[in-house]
Amino acid sequence: MKEIDESKLILIDSNGIRTDGRRWNELRPLRIRVGILDRAEGSALVEMGKTKALATVYGPKEMFPKHMANPDRAILRAAYRMATFSVEERKKPQPSRRELELSKVIKEALEPAIMLHYYPRTVIEVYILILQADGGTRTAAINAASLALADAGIPMKGLVTAVAAGRVGDQVVLDLNDVEDKYGDADLPVAMIPATGEITLLQMDGTMSSDMFERALKLAIEGINIIYERQRDALKRRFLELKEKILGGEFYASRD
Ligand code: CDP
Repeated sequence: MKEIDESKLILIDSNGIRTDGRRWNELRPLRIRVGILDRAEGSALVEMGKTKALATVYGPKEMFPKHMANPDRAILRAAYRMATFSVEERKKPQPSRRELELSKVIKEALEPAIMLHYYPRTVIEVYILILQADGGTRTAAINAASLALADAGIPMKGLVTAVAAGRVGDQVVLDLNDVEDKYGDADLPVAMIPATGEITLLQMDGTMSSDMFERALKLAIEGINIIYERQRDALKRRFLELKEKILGGEFYASRD
């Protein structure tokens, strides 16, 4: 692993420019594609800068073993995994404690948005694979997962959208990259259902004054609103594509 001399590391230069050329309130370049896999019921790929998260959805399907089914609602299962090649130092293929914890955090961030009571006794599976990690993988994972759920046609109150804000010295910053995450002073990942205003994930690593916390939260919500618009555009593109395929007869079995 490359050693970084922390004493020489400048996260924000004298012109207010960050290591990847952004200003404090700028998101990383965002790229969203929905419905990229034919075999999954729903899928989405979200790239936030160099971080790439692929999410797939299967279900709702009957719950096995049956005794684990909930007679009132569907059970949501979420698995977050990092590909062995996603980080600088090869990630061991066995699920780590961090991956198990993030799977739980992501499930809890998505659950409030899904109409689970529509599908009693079933299970909905969300599988997220981080293809490349450069900070903010849990937020990219949530953005991709909620789109994959929508792509699978699962009824929701709204999409879930996430981004982190944080602190570098006395400056709040939006959408931290890996170096900012590791060498900055605080990291505040936030997920929200913008359609209802509900915050479904709020974590903090590091320290911030209460004033700075409020500014960071406000900044994260501004970022979320921008990402949400982009998620909606990507979904619209997906539905237009599907409409064209249906009108073009691609989904009708041939009678010959
Ligand atoms: O990715 P996220 O910010 O949600 O979670 P984190 O646990 O704070 O990890 C921050 C970053 O550390 C990741 O995005 C990766 O870039 C990096 N990381 C790594 O290099 N190797 C790991 N085994 C885990 C994380």
